[in-house]
Amino acid sequence: MAVPPVPGSGDAAARADALRREIERHNYAYYVLDAPTVPDAEYDRLFRELQALEAAHPELVTADSPTRRVGGQPLDEFPKRRHAIPMLSIRTETDTTAAGARTFDARVRKELGLVETDAPVEYAAELKFDGLAINLRYEHGVLVSATTRGDGETGEEVTQNVRTVQSVPLRLRTDQPPPVLEVRGEVFMRRDDFERYNAKQREAGRPTLVNPRNGAAGSIRQLDPRLAAQRPLSFFAYGLGEVQGWTDAPATHSATLDVLVELGVPVSAERRVCRGADALVAFHDDVAARRDQLPFDIDGVVYKVNRLDQQRALGFVTREPRWAVAHKFPAQEELTVVEAIEVQVGRTGALTPVARLAPVFVGGVTVTNATLHNQDEIDRKDVRVGDTVIVRRAGDVIPEVVAVVADRRPHPAPPRFAILEAYPVCPECGSHVVRLEGEAAVRCTGGLYCPAQRKQALLHFASRRAMDIEGLGDKLVDQLVDRGLVHTPADVYGLDLATLAGLDRMAEKSAANLCAAIEASKATTLARFIFALGIRNVGEATAKDLARHFGALDRLIAATEDDLLAVRDVGPIVAQSIVQFFAEPHNLDVVRKLQAAGVRWPESAGVQQSGGRLAGKTLVLTGTLPTLTRDAAKEMIEAAGGKVAGSVSKKTDYVVAGAEAGSKLAKAQELGVAILDEDGLRGLLQPAASSGQRALDL
Ligand code: IVH
Repeated sequence: MAVPPVPGSGDAAARADALRREIERHNYAYYVLDAPTVPDAEYDRLFRELQALEAAHPELVTADSPTRRVGGQPLDEFPKRRHAIPMLSIRTETDTTAAGARTFDARVRKELGLVETDAPVEYAAELKFDGLAINLRYEHGVLVSATTRGDGETGEEVTQNVRTVQSVPLRLRTDQPPPVLEVRGEVFMRRDDFERYNAKQREAGRPTLVNPRNGAAGSIRQLDPRLAAQRPLSFFAYGLGEVQGWTDAPATHSATLDVLVELGVPVSAERRVCRGADALVAFHDDVAARRDQLPFDIDGVVYKVNRLDQQRALGFVTREPRWAVAHKFPAQEELTVVEAIEVQVGRTGALTPVARLAPVFVGGVTVTNATLHNQDEIDRKDVRVGDTVIVRRAGDVIPEVVAVVADRRPHPAPPRFAILEAYPVCPECGSHVVRLEGEAAVRCTGGLYCPAQRKQALLHFASRRAMDIEGLGDKLVDQLVDRGLVHTPADVYGLDLATLAGLDRMAEKSAANLCAAIEASKATTLARFIFALGIRNVGEATAKDLARHFGALDRLIAATEDDLLAVRDVGPIVAQSIVQFFAEPHNLDVVRKLQAAGVRWPESAGVQQSGGRLAGKTLVLTGTLPTLTRDAAKEMIEAAGGKVAGSVSKKTDYVVAGAEAGSKLAKAQELGVAILDEDGLRGLLQPAASSGQRALDL
């Protein structure tokens, strides 16, 4: 698209004004109505046009321009600011059951002097957001300051940071704004924004936020507005502060919030006008049931007497209004102590670390275990036995250790926890435990033998592309394993008709069919057998490559990592997985039992023996070659029957060294291995031909 000419100042002013109105309209649709009107790309285009215009005509910049959300200077401290009207807190109803709502209604009725025959009191029921209370002051419709609650009388002015909250309008949507209108509400962080932000931080190796609440509070109290701007915050209004000159102010709380929506201020749609206690209970129960589906954390609901004249009549006790109450839900985060760290072996052999906790009531249940995910998570949070931690349980999600309370760590500090040190062998089967390069999980290598992996291993073993035992599905595998009839795939070949026919939902006919399928599966191919073993990172295609390359199982079993790297498409991770698998005696034992049971396949010499110019030769590549990529060089060597190894040893025939070759070159010199450059390699690969033929080739 052509860049539009920069218009003259008069045109520019009109265009900037039009752009601001349009951007504000889209913001309103997006943040307040929750109904986006344009695709992000179009919005970005409008925004960039306005930015360019303002850069060309700085005199046109207005304080409430949407481009002015970021840009302030870092502060040394926040200025203190006295609230025109104190920011009060709300009384918390101590009874967390739904009955708490009835207690509140009864008290309100009594204080209003109502008797049983009087109509039900009307309430505004809302969510209790879990963030940071903020007072937004609009003078003649323009945001002039944003202040935290502080001690209720005096707060901190955090205007620069609050301006970075996209959903806070910098100007109210009205042509006749009241001279003063203070909007009160909560700045918070949505859970998806929290997760996304943390994922980005983790990737960059930067510190993460403990929870959305701390995320919101931390960014608002961040002295550098540019840092605050990077944290994705949201805002919902729930009331008013000082108001001057608002002629047609509404008579109820709910109508006030409706007007705020019209003025462009975001208000949560999760609110209801309730008549009487039953309606409050229904609201409470409904929100409680949907709590975990909400896109942000709440810690309960709030009930407010809806009519403002009744609010005035009720007044305040000390610093709390008599007309409002917070009805909390059970907390989803609590403190407790890590008594031990153990591991659980999953179906795929991954060892998941689990914190054993001093029992704590959180999220409505007593929690004694919480997942620590993996070693990286343990390291990142630095969780140690004896630590006091924040545990979170939300919905049906597995309880999780959110963070360690650093200043409650015992003295002397307990050691860091390393899974591989605490569990060198699998707690389920005693097979050795490894962590492969580039993988987060620590794994048990006893795939064929480990009881935790039994069902998974059997299902895979019997699957169509593996041993193809028709009829051996998950229901049957469950029964065979649960009854102790099958421990490893080898036991499948010991099952007889009588045993199978004795299983649940197993007719004589299907038992006979299964017997036949088991028998038929014994005659297989090497590729299928390798695939059936369920070696980590060895899929069907790799199994075929391995079978073709080695031709015989024993050659595969004896292969070193370097041998394996010579196989097409086998990289270091696959090579490691294979070596680890066969290094585990438990697995080898099962393989031998399978063979003893009659599982067999045709073997061959394999293709690596085929004669080429480099047949039987092992080469090591190091450094950067002038024209060949590493893969291209490897391909050429393999095509000539040679093998490319990862490290230099006495068995290495040649080291091909390019620019910036390091320790491998030194090792080759030390061992007296022949060293080639790229031309030397090409020379090796060229057919020993007369110069006449070579000329023809060119
Ligand atoms: S009304 C006079 N409504 O709860 C009443 N407060 O103790 C003033 N809060 O820190 C508060 N959601 O930030 C009200 N829907 C809601 C709320 C809410 C969360 C917070 C507020 C304050 C605390 C009140």
